[in-house]
Amino acid sequence: MNTVLPPRVRDERALEARVTELLEAMTLDEKVGQLVQRNAPGGHVPDWLADEIRAGRIGSILNEVDVDCVNEIQSIAVEQSRLGIPILFGRDVIHGFRTVLPLPLAQACSWNPELVRIGARVAAVEAAASGVHWTFAPMVDIGRDPRWGRVAECLGEDPHLSSVLAAAMVRGFQGEGLDAPDSIAACAKHFAGYGACEAGKDYASTDLTERELRSVHLPPFHAAVQAGVATLMTSFSDVDGIPASANAFLLTQVLREEWGFDGFVVSDWESISQLAVHGLTEGDRESAVEAVTAGVDMEMASRCYADHLAALVNEGVIRESRVDELVANVLRTKLRLGLMERPFCDPGEFPAIANAEHLEVARRAAVESCVLLKNDAVDHRPLLPLDPERHRRVAVIGPMADDAGEQLGTWVFDGDPSIARTPLDALRDGWGDRVEFEYVRALRKPRDRSHDAFDAACEAARNADVALLFLGEGAVLSGEAHCRSDITLPGAQEALIHRLRATGTPLVLVLMAGRPLALESVVESVDAILCAWHPGTMGGPAIADLLFGVENPSGKLPITFPRVTGQIPIHYAEKRTGKPVTPETWVHIDDLPEDAGQLSAGNTSFHMDVWYRPMFSFGHGFGYTHFHYENLDRSAEGFASGESIEISVDVVNTGDRAATEVVQLYLRDPVASVTRPVRELKAFQRIDFAPHERRRVVFRLTEEDLAFWSRRGRHEAETGRFEVWIGGNSEARLGTDFHFHSTDRDPGHDRSST
Ligand code: NOJ
Repeated sequence: MNTVLPPRVRDERALEARVTELLEAMTLDEKVGQLVQRNAPGGHVPDWLADEIRAGRIGSILNEVDVDCVNEIQSIAVEQSRLGIPILFGRDVIHGFRTVLPLPLAQACSWNPELVRIGARVAAVEAAASGVHWTFAPMVDIGRDPRWGRVAECLGEDPHLSSVLAAAMVRGFQGEGLDAPDSIAACAKHFAGYGACEAGKDYASTDLTERELRSVHLPPFHAAVQAGVATLMTSFSDVDGIPASANAFLLTQVLREEWGFDGFVVSDWESISQLAVHGLTEGDRESAVEAVTAGVDMEMASRCYADHLAALVNEGVIRESRVDELVANVLRTKLRLGLMERPFCDPGEFPAIANAEHLEVARRAAVESCVLLKNDAVDHRPLLPLDPERHRRVAVIGPMADDAGEQLGTWVFDGDPSIARTPLDALRDGWGDRVEFEYVRALRKPRDRSHDAFDAACEAARNADVALLFLGEGAVLSGEAHCRSDITLPGAQEALIHRLRATGTPLVLVLMAGRPLALESVVESVDAILCAWHPGTMGGPAIADLLFGVENPSGKLPITFPRVTGQIPIHYAEKRTGKPVTPETWVHIDDLPEDAGQLSAGNTSFHMDVWYRPMFSFGHGFGYTHFHYENLDRSAEGFASGESIEISVDVVNTGDRAATEVVQLYLRDPVASVTRPVRELKAFQRIDFAPHERRRVVFRLTEEDLAFWSRRGRHEAETGRFEVWIGGNSEARLGTDFHFHSTDRDPGHDRSST
């Protein structure tokens, strides 16, 4: 028998022994201290903070990024507290640190896990150089309601895509190993269901069934845990009546017992004391009991644990052994991070902030984040890419064209606008010797309602061969607590587009926003739309390269664009209804019969004042070439448990330039024990093609890909027929089917006859 344990196991054993040793040495107050996270005043160390740390009453601090201050605080913890346990410093490093990457939602458009990983790496290296040990990212909440400001921070509407990218981000932040000096612990948040807030209103209630939770909202968290995420953060919301910070089903049953997570869970900001505001408890003392019992290891900002936990133990309300379990989770994570050996930060060990390599990653991420939503022909050829021979005079119009701060987007505490390159700057820099650019800001801010500068904008457009309109939402219009009930272009922007349309000059809308917008009333008034989101520090060069064809657009939407706000929620993986709408059964409001008693044509599921399809579907995105799909085939008529099946297709780049395609595979379970989505993304491959290249693309599906939360409350695949499609977006029509046979001896819902 081999008695030599692999290093990881041996290390973990030593680590657990160290955790036990520390716990045995700790007083109850010191234990509680490890569960307390306090906000730093920033840049200085007040006496109260030094005293608390010396007394071992704080385990973690958030929002201190002055490295001298971090080290000063740490020296108090390590050298002046009784046990010398280092402080864990946390920060919201959401999409970059000084070098700002595109919004997470924008990065998700790349469908490129490797690029997302590298982006998180850049963020980690820069943050670690300022003494940050822990980021509160990735946010892996599923975003299906673009009114919700936090869709900017999520990875889109789809569980599979979000899971793949969540795991990539975790790996990026945490690097080769948590104890590497340039690794920071990741935090998958907000566990769980936060994205389902009613009416897309932040902090509002979420009413989710267990099936919906397990099918849609939990998979990205599970993927993050499987990727080794060190921590999770609870959600502000309640789930089926139990706020997440008091939710034992989520925090203990699912997270610890089913998934085997052994890192720690932090509350969201004051979310434990808010249990009383939710009306779940009478006050902080009871809130502490709820959160400890459910499994929140560390409390952010509020003082329920700090003020009440020791007394609750002394009075016998909470067992000390329960507190020990929470403390062990925190200590284990600190040990894994190597904090005991390396508590201090030496910025000299790190590469320069915002160095050329980091900026190039930010540029590449911005390039792959942009989605070409529309590209109509003008004079018999697609308007984009621009051609400096034909487009010699270019009007650059709009408040987002030259505003470094706005293009960074939400959650950029540490982002440096002074190093950001704006589109105007990059256009002039790259093409100014051949193309004449005339810039009119037109609106002070995207929210501006004034038409005062419209004449100047129209004049510039009239004098130009093409007008580039940099419109959208300012950074402050999305992010936490920044929700909108109407997601059209804010302020006077729609009016500006309509005025510019009247000039007859071809228009390119470069949309810069933190969420999908409802563009129905302007989409026909522009010839091309490039969705650039809030693209970060290097957004300008990326956009300029895409507009002039130095780069080929390759982004695909990770979230649906509705036509109008009232269509929300609208997402491609909707459940099937008993009365599905078809083009024949949809009736427009103007075509309704006069007689109110008469039923409309098909009595199917639709709004009668808007076409039932979205404006731009999930997975959609054009490039400067066209991809053709043919010869879809399957390796067998079916497969059984333990086996797999291959679905393959020819993909052809029909254009004469190199291009990238995201080949997407969608699946449908036509008959199941519970209603299933019309289709679900199950796999994708991002592939570079040479001009006119044909490639055979192969996907392998296993039982796991067919599994779902079945009627009998299990994650399982049911015997029966499955339909599959492959294409360049969620509306792919090229498909086939196959049969799956479950060899589960207790097969439950058997659909073998279908
Ligand atoms: C509240 C937010 O919901 C959370 O995402 C963030 O990490 C914390 N505040 C800390 O800033």
